[in-house]
Amino acid sequence: MTTKAYSPGLEGVIAGETKLSFVNPELNSLMYRGFDIRDLAENACFEEVAYLMIYGKLPNQTEFDAFDALLKRERELPDTLIESMRQFPKNSIPMDLLRTGVSLLALYEEEVGDISHEANVRKATRLIAKFPALITYSYRLTRGQDIVRPDNTLGHAANFLYMLNGEKPNAETAKLFDTTLIAYTDHGFNASTFAARVTTSTLSDIHSGMISAIGTLKGPLHGGANEEAMKMILEIGTPDKAEAFTLNALATKRKIMGFGHRAYKTGDPRAFMLTEKGKELCERTGNEKWYEIAAIVRETMIREKNIFPNVDFPTAYIYYVMGLPIEIYTPIFAVARIAGWAGHVIEQQDANRLIRPKAIYEGPRHEAFVPMAERR
Ligand SMILES: CC(C)(COP(=O)(O)OP(=O)(O)OC[C@H]1O[C@@H](n2cnc3c(N)ncnc32)[C@H](O)[C@@H]1OP(=O)(O)O)[C@@H](O)C(=O)NCCC(=O)NCCS
Repeated sequence: MTTKAYSPGLEGVIAGETKLSFVNPELNSLMYRGFDIRDLAENACFEEVAYLMIYGKLPNQTEFDAFDALLKRERELPDTLIESMRQFPKNSIPMDLLRTGVSLLALYEEEVGDISHEANVRKATRLIAKFPALITYSYRLTRGQDIVRPDNTLGHAANFLYMLNGEKPNAETAKLFDTTLIAYTDHGFNASTFAARVTTSTLSDIHSGMISAIGTLKGPLHGGANEEAMKMILEIGTPDKAEAFTLNALATKRKIMGFGHRAYKTGDPRAFMLTEKGKELCERTGNEKWYEIAAIVRETMIREKNIFPNVDFPTAYIYYVMGLPIEIYTPIFAVARIAGWAGHVIEQQDANRLIRPKAIYEGPRHEAFVPMAERR
């Protein structure tokens, strides 16, 4: 009899080493390469954090200027790729569009097969730069709208919003959107990052790793939760219904999306940070209703089950109040997490060991072979 020395869902299992992010549930804190996310969100922009992920340090002014210029230069997509997008089926799911877009983009990547550190950094930079176009172009074209070309006077976050809806955001909206990107950038060995590392541990290329990661992020237990959380808040509709809705969901074993976390059991630091900012946004824009519903769901979940919101709960109503379409929330998560994924792929391939765990075999043994004609 084999001893079941394993943990379902790999809960609590150490599956590798990383210098990218430190998830510390005891202190409810999250650090990227030693920097607290609250400090980064307050003082840095997403581009600096992306640089930190792939280069291992915060950029000085000269490094930042060069990186920023490169990101801006690389924002566009090949014309023939845009032409391909025009043929995509109408109303395709945006995460499928992104996954397909990265797959097509790989065909145009001259360094696709070069997995040296230097080539990985160059490809990572191009991918970070092109994710907004991959998402917004394919989204708009499959919704019957023209594409909006990048505006290189805008930073990464503001430009994404501009390319999505054709309007330049005000400074406050751009800053808060940038903060959500920083909150989403990296998170230890989460499922999509792990998927990217498994894929590239076979010495496959970074684009293949990103495709695995996007497919993994799509699920509602991972990145898909921000979309589901907003659908639930809309279903609740008004603050007076929020408590009864939550109690009923718990009684009927319905999961409340945007709550709970494998690592944090007493609160997600990203959610703490964004809940405050979400409240400010709702108040500033006369959208208190959404924050009030969210606050009642939160209080009820903590009181009844001691389950706290995760990052996907506040981002849901933040993006809604910003006027973003719900189906684009998970791709937005990817706009940020690409920087983390890329950092992990570089780290994996810099000191590679094939990731190949074992399984406990639980099926039958020593079955006698039965010819097809005799099978029932
Ligand atoms: C994230 C998540 C998958 C972590 O799951 P996990 O570590 O495997 O924890 P479990 O799903 O085993 O949950 C443990 C208990 O809390 C409950 N629970 C966890 N999250 C819950 C939620 N969002 N709503 C209601 N109950 C929840 C489970 O039902 C379970 O209760 P039980 O012991 O009575 O059966 C889980 O919390 C979840 O599904 N959350 C909703 C999806 C989500 O927001 N994902 C984004 C994560 S950043």
